[in-house]
Amino acid sequence: MSNAWQEAQKNLAGGVNSPVRAFKAVGGEPIFFSKGFGPFLFDREGKRYIDYCLSWGAILWGHADAPTIEAIQRQAVNGTSFGAATEYETALAVEIKKAFPALEKLRFTSSGTEAVMSAIRLARGFTKKERIVKFEGCYHGHADSLLVKAGSGLATFGTPDSAGIPASLAELTTVLPYNDVAALKQFLQNTRDTACVIVEPVAGNMGVVPARKEFLEVMRTETAKRGIVLIFDEVISGYRVTYGGAQHLYGIQPDLTVLGKIIGGGLPVGAFGGRAEIMDKLSPEGPVYQAGTLSGNPLSMAAGLSVLSRLTPDFYKNLNQKTARFVAQAEKALKRRHSNARIQSLGSMFTVFFSEKSLYNFKDVLDSDKKNFAAFFHRMIARGVYIPPSAFEAYFLSAAHTETELEKTLEILGEC
Ligand SMILES: Cc1ncc(COP(=O)(O)O)c(C=O)c1O
Repeated sequence: MSNAWQEAQKNLAGGVNSPVRAFKAVGGEPIFFSKGFGPFLFDREGKRYIDYCLSWGAILWGHADAPTIEAIQRQAVNGTSFGAATEYETALAVEIKKAFPALEKLRFTSSGTEAVMSAIRLARGFTKKERIVKFEGCYHGHADSLLVKAGSGLATFGTPDSAGIPASLAELTTVLPYNDVAALKQFLQNTRDTACVIVEPVAGNMGVVPARKEFLEVMRTETAKRGIVLIFDEVISGYRVTYGGAQHLYGIQPDLTVLGKIIGGGLPVGAFGGRAEIMDKLSPEGPVYQAGTLSGNPLSMAAGLSVLSRLTPDFYKNLNQKTARFVAQAEKALKRRHSNARIQSLGSMFTVFFSEKSLYNFKDVLDSDKKNFAAFFHRMIARGVYIPPSAFEAYFLSAAHTETELEKTLEILGEC
């Protein structure tokens, strides 16, 4: 056992600060990374990996991206946190609103979990109702009410629900199958106590499973009819699938949207926003309390602004075409050794599944062949390609991945 892992286990719970990092799903010891540059990560021994995890999708321009570093440095010398109003928060909000017109007003938090938790409290405060509806396999962070059938992390550990969640709270969460229009209609037509429906419009946390258009359309019409708040959790999909996120791609406006990851340029961040009428219920204007010492901190705002202000529809056209070409070739390469390999993708996110058929929901994902994955993962990292250490995750491409890395990866894929 490496010294680093031994020391980590002595001092950190489970040796890590987020469970999937412990490699339990794939076995072996976690890799300790010390550096990232462009499309690469480097471990403590200096071994180089082509990175397709990209901090779970947060990195869009590549690691140690020069303009992002410059923006962080420029801000850092002027102070890292004031706990008071700054113009940087407004600047990032304005930038986000360009891409997401449905966000009439926003609020920043320090993580996606916090943003989702706050959006749900707000929906409950706005509607004065208590039930929330989520979908099997969608993950919305680790807030109590949402750790029910929550996809990758929990599925990896075989615990469908976390311990420590009061039954009385879990009872207020209804879980429906993803992409199942009939089940959704049936539920919504009969509910009286639902405050909100929350969905990953492109699921990334059971691997990439895009929503069927009709599923989101029905969700939008049926919730609107009943005054139920529709929340799109675009923490992953937001700045991944295209400029303006899944809501732009599908042409559907939710009432509230949650963002995270990319909007902080690799620093801690989350945001939620939407219709002004709902957002105005937040304290200090309204009765729904929500706060944060480091919310909207200047470093995350500066990094986020640097990343987002360089994005255009053309940037996405290029990145998405590069990903589509790579995915098509990667699937072919994989099929040489695994006849049931398939890749599901949208924008610059994709997942390798071992399954004879397309996957539309969490059951399809659980039915896929998982026994190949651990060996596949270890062959990939041995050859210098880092992918997420769990079978049910999204992989990502960045602007920094060039044809050289992609071709190298294809060669390796064909042998793994
Ligand atoms: C869709 C989605 N929502 C919410 C979260 C929680 O974000 P965070 O890990 O920043 O708390 C995640 C994290 O992976 C996510 O993928």
